[in-house]
Amino acid sequence: MKRTLIIFLLLTPFFFSFDQTFDLKASMERGKSIYEAQCITCHMAEGEGLAGVFPPLAKADYLADKNRLVKVVLQGVRGEMKVNGTDYNGEMTGFSLSDQETADVLNYICNTWGNNAAAIKPADIQPALKATSKNYQPY
Ligand code: HEC
Repeated sequence: MKRTLIIFLLLTPFFFSFDQTFDLKASMERGKSIYEAQCITCHMAEGEGLAGVFPPLAKADYLADKNRLVKVVLQGVRGEMKVNGTDYNGEMTGFSLSDQETADVLNYICNTWGNNAAAIKPADIQPALKATSKNYQPY
């Protein structure tokens, strides 16, 4: 009994550290399904978009602004934007996704097709919606 307790106490820090690691790979897997169901028709299979109509997500300069990304996905976007040197002036409606789904789809697009970014967690979504973003017009 005493030995069990000692083992348990020794292992406790490990349980806590496991809890804190975020499984980016699993999040991206879930995000891929969301992308294929909701985004692929416009932004295309390789995130290449359609020049002048649907901006690319692959190596897109806008991906650097996390707060803006969250808003674009949940609140949509309209108005002029220049992505990788090409002008766009279209509209995208917002999507109704949970915080987890939003983080998942963003982790997918930000870490696929040569993109590489730090993980976005579900807890980051609501604060991002409240942050101010330059040059952002919701749908
Ligand atoms: C019906 C077509 C359509 C669908 C579906 C769509 N988008 Fe868009 N998206 C657009 C258009 C058009 C723009 C540019 C709007 C503008 O010019 O203001 C855009 C812009 C963006 C941008 C900002 C530009 C950039 O390159 O960073 C992101 C990010 C984005 N979309 C992500 C997504 C994600 C994620 C999904 C799926 C949840 C999605 N979009 C679904 C049409 C679409």
